[in-house]
Amino acid sequence: MAVNLLLGLQWGDEGKGKIVDVLTSDYDIIARFQGGPNAGHTLIFDGYKHVLHTIPSGIFHKTAVNVVGNGVVIDPVIFKRELDNLSQFDIDFTSKLLISRKAHLILPTHRLLDAASETAKGKAKIGSTLKGIGPTYMDKTGRNGLRVGDLEMEDWNTRYDALTKKHLKMLDFHGIELEYDLDELQKEFNEGVKRLKELTFIDSEEYLNNAMKNGKSILAEGAQGSLLDVDFGTYPFVTSSNTTAAGACTGLGIAPNKIGDVFGIFKAYVTRVGSGPFPTELFDEDGARMAKVGHEFGATTGRPRRCGWLDIVALKYAVQVNGVTQLMMMKGDVLSGFDTLKVCTSYKYKGKEISHFPFNIEPENVTPIYSEFKGWSEDLTKMTSKEELPQNLLDYIAFIEKEVEVPIKIVSVGPDRKQTILR
Ligand code: IMP
Repeated sequence: MAVNLLLGLQWGDEGKGKIVDVLTSDYDIIARFQGGPNAGHTLIFDGYKHVLHTIPSGIFHKTAVNVVGNGVVIDPVIFKRELDNLSQFDIDFTSKLLISRKAHLILPTHRLLDAASETAKGKAKIGSTLKGIGPTYMDKTGRNGLRVGDLEMEDWNTRYDALTKKHLKMLDFHGIELEYDLDELQKEFNEGVKRLKELTFIDSEEYLNNAMKNGKSILAEGAQGSLLDVDFGTYPFVTSSNTTAAGACTGLGIAPNKIGDVFGIFKAYVTRVGSGPFPTELFDEDGARMAKVGHEFGATTGRPRRCGWLDIVALKYAVQVNGVTQLMMMKGDVLSGFDTLKVCTSYKYKGKEISHFPFNIEPENVTPIYSEFKGWSEDLTKMTSKEELPQNLLDYIAFIEKEVEVPIKIVSVGPDRKQTILR
């Protein structure tokens, strides 16, 4: 059976956690393929809110097996905390949560290096979540990293000490004063490692390919968003992994011809957390209203998210790079009550009108060109069927579908599992 993918098409926080949760009953296996605890996937059901960072969003479903793939980076400290937070649920983690031996480990010193590197950048900082993501992926591509499978090796301690020593020298090189207690950090890390080792480690590419041969259905869950992809995002203001569809192949060991549907998730407007260009960003009351009504605060860091109008140029780009086959529009309910809605359909780029996403979208090069739409005043959050959706929202949806040339199959009208309208 083919593997379906679910990805965010903007700068993250599109609502992937909710949709994976809604879709999991259709799948035997949910697999995370990149990123790490920089992600915050929020799930709301039965009146409770749960934020997952590394654990795939299928963990609450009775039968789904959850795989943390080789492309993911794991911080044992945060991972343990996540597991502890789930202790109220009756989840058999040893059978329901499988960890790739090839996933890289975030060491305490990776977090310190992240902090030092951001501080050294000054005004040019990325706005990283400071979870050690960048330094860990740097060690991966630099061929210095430590992987989950190394925890099973006899020389683990020697390797850990060697890499930590190297990191401490690098910290000296940065020359940034950081306050930390290494013994305390290592104690916490060792407790996390102990908990991690109680889980089941697998050769995940073998596991997933066998599962496919045996007719199991697999959903690959992306983290962050396409515009944060290290190759195709707004570099250097990106994360350090491939958040786009290709990342699922390298992050799980699945061949490109085994990919089936690609579900692309986007918000009816756009948000961004951290630094970097954002052509349709609003600095007025409209932006403040989106932030307030949409509760736009980072699920991992609590930082306020920047908000702006929907950017079709960026959306088309993400749809193209990922080969999206179905779209899911989130948070349409947040736009209720606006008299007029704007959608960016092209950019004025260095004096010329363009409709593609260019090399550089810094504000000095790009001015968004907008189309306007009549808003709707109805509260969408109680609606349960597509027949109830207001005509102006249907016009907004039809315009997006026409521009992007992919159907919008799900309209989410609130954070709860139940607030999901299928089209
Ligand atoms: P890092 O991956 O933590 O180094 O952060 C790099 C950039 O990606 C920063 O702008 C972060 O705010 C952003 N980022 C990382 N993870 C997420 C996420 O899950 N949602 C939204 N933005 C994210």
